[in-house]
Amino acid sequence: MAVVGKKLAVVGAGLMGSGIAQVSAQAGWDVTLRDVTGEALTRGTDGIKASYEKFVSKGKLEASAAEAALARITTTTDLDAAAEADVVVEAVFEKIEVKREIFGRLDTLVKDGTVLASNTSAIPITKIAAATSRPERVVGTHFFSPVPMMALCELVRGHRTSDETLAAAREFAESVGKTCVVVNRDVAGFVTTRLISALVVEAAKLQESGVATAEDIDTACKLGFGHAMGPLATADLTGVDILLHASENIYAESRDPKFAPPESMRRMVDAGDIGRKSGRGYYDH
Ligand SMILES: NC(=O)c1ccc[n+]([C@@H]2O[C@H](COP(=O)([O-])OP(=O)(O)OC[C@H]3O[C@@H](n4cnc5c(N)ncnc54)[C@H](O)[C@@H]3O)[C@@H](O)[C@H]2O)c1
Repeated sequence: MAVVGKKLAVVGAGLMGSGIAQVSAQAGWDVTLRDVTGEALTRGTDGIKASYEKFVSKGKLEASAAEAALARITTTTDLDAAAEADVVVEAVFEKIEVKREIFGRLDTLVKDGTVLASNTSAIPITKIAAATSRPERVVGTHFFSPVPMMALCELVRGHRTSDETLAAAREFAESVGKTCVVVNRDVAGFVTTRLISALVVEAAKLQESGVATAEDIDTACKLGFGHAMGPLATADLTGVDILLHASENIYAESRDPKFAPPESMRRMVDAGDIGRKSGRGYYDH
């Protein structure tokens, strides 16, 4: 059921922020979308319009519903516009200083009960929350890309996130059609990146040591476990560099050797063989 009359502010109109604005407006939220430049906002809203049009042309969305949803999105370059929001979702660059600065400012702006959520994929929520005077109101809402297509939202509890905030974040994410999983402790990589890192690192070690080829490792995961895509094909799609960095980060925090990437992965990145975006990774593309 659509939530009507609820106010959402989304900070950052890039890939994720515009996707979150899109699904939320469609679900009846009044959305204020904030970015630093008019061009970024235009890019974001153009993407939203194009995506709604695609759903309409496929018969998955009424044209009138798309129009009404678009009308619920207001754009601004002024962060003060977030003052009235019940929920704020931050989706700016993955840079801790930028996020902390935004949360510090939001802390001085928003109402007492407002949920302050970050879409970070890897920064500890506790570090972001510490930039505010209300860490109990800060939570991770880790949506997946592309937001309109992916059903998962990983809810991350920071060290001091309250049960009430977690419940409100769940209500928000479910109201926009997502299924939530809860990460009860603020660990590096949350649940999803920890799982994929462990699998990719082990797959890379098996490939490096000649135990099996990349193709056979991926086929084993697809046919043996029903995965849609094998771990090394996933590494190529996501970027070998991205997964190397994620695994190193989790290893640095956890000191658990299962996340320590093999040297061959580092050499691939040194050589620029980072997967689909460079034309070569575990496979030629
Ligand atoms: N791309 C993914 O697949 C993915 C998936 C899950 C989570 N995330 C996370 O979501 C967040 C956003 O990622 P993205 O891929 O949408 O990035 P993006 O680069 O597409 O967009 C970031 C946007 O933030 C804007 N921005 C920067 N500083 C700002 C500020 N002070 N105020 C308002 N806007 C500001 C930029 O202008 C840009 O439009 C990151 O934390 C990322 O780690 C990304």
